[in-house]
Amino acid sequence: MTDFDYSVKVLIVGDGGVGKTSLTRRFATGQFTKDYIQTIGVNLLSKVIEVKGEKMMLLLWDTGGQEKFRNLLPKYYEGGHCGLVVYDVTKPLTLKKCVWWVGEITKHCGKVPLILIGNKTDLERQVSTEEGRSVANSLGIPFIETSAKDQTNVEKAFSLLGEMFLENIKVRK
Ligand code: GTP
Repeated sequence: MTDFDYSVKVLIVGDGGVGKTSLTRRFATGQFTKDYIQTIGVNLLSKVIEVKGEKMMLLLWDTGGQEKFRNLLPKYYEGGHCGLVVYDVTKPLTLKKCVWWVGEITKHCGKVPLILIGNKTDLERQVSTEEGRSVANSLGIPFIETSAKDQTNVEKAFSLLGEMFLENIKVRK
């Protein structure tokens, strides 16, 4: 017997080095490392959370964002229920690319709940909160700024995604 009500496939996408692995590890294991090891294909982690009295097993598909590994990605998207689209607040180009990342997920998974995440807020930023919010608004998705390093808003991002998943399921029922 499973001890959760839902099994949720969460896609974590965005350009290489924006902090997808760091956010996912911080959330699932509580750890952070300065080292950068490029993800090839996908890393899988999981965590059970409770949202509005419902237990859900989040299956965290942390994908590799480097250009050279990108042709591997579409096969990992299949069956994705929701996702985080991540950019680095010190790298404006990574925000611009989020429009493309959202398009990729939508192409492979349909219109699933997504959140735009501006990560690395502990560093000197090159992208303002307003710029991030404006891109999120134009995509019609929520926006949260995080730091995997100092833990700011990491739990909040994943639990909001859990809430959005539940809402989406209820609307579709
Ligand atoms: P790919 O696997 O290539 O797609 O990269 P990624 O998006 O998974 O990035 P990763 O989590 O590996 O982080 C890249 C680098 O940024 C590492 O050196 C991390 O320590 C660092 N990093 C990630 N998040 C933060 C953060 O919030 N603040 C700071 N200061 N550094 C961070």
